[in-house]
Amino acid sequence: MPPKKFRLGVLVSGRGTNLQSILDAIGKGEVPAEVGVIISNKETAPALERGRQHGVESIFLNPKDFASREAYDRELVTLLNARDIDLVCLAGYMKILTAGFIRAFAGKIINIHPSLLPAFPGLDVQQKALDHGVKFAGCTVHFVEEEVDTGPIVLQAVVPVQDGDTTETLSARILEQEHQIYPRAIQLIAENRLRIQGRRVLIQEPE
Ligand code: GRF
Repeated sequence: MPPKKFRLGVLVSGRGTNLQSILDAIGKGEVPAEVGVIISNKETAPALERGRQHGVESIFLNPKDFASREAYDRELVTLLNARDIDLVCLAGYMKILTAGFIRAFAGKIINIHPSLLPAFPGLDVQQKALDHGVKFAGCTVHFVEEEVDTGPIVLQAVVPVQDGDTTETLSARILEQEHQIYPRAIQLIAENRLRIQGRRVLIQEPE
């Protein structure tokens, strides 16, 4: 039997360009993994359609069908475990995960965030970076812990701010970098090349 592939579960809520970058990088053979399932909390998320076009099981899980956030996340865990998922990738997933979910996949959840963390956690961060007047913006792939946007940092990319930037132009240049570093981070994890020392994530050379 061929060795089992490293399996990703991707959680989405929206347009899914980061999901697309992961699917494309896998397709090009750059990431030794497969997307086992895509799950959205929004029925109309274009990300679901992207998944279906790639032949990946793409599920809308309706929050209204559950009595609580905890119950919703318990079902998420069940769905992911039933599909033998090794790593959960948040890709524009706009629902805060419960502690129970994060414990169930401890150390196996990553997120992409469009700022250079720990600067600008939360929402609308490209606008916040412009408002603050920073000269360098960027994006971060990090492990997910119970507190939002805080876990150990896997990769970051720096995007210089230009004088004429608007939220749209800056967001677009940051997004280009997101599409580079997210698949790369998944590749490093799939190749078992990360070592975590406290908050520091060290990257080992390939064997
Ligand atoms: C990205 O900017 C990502 O950094 C943030 O949400 C956005 C998702 O975009 N977490 P997309 O759905 O991947 O196009």
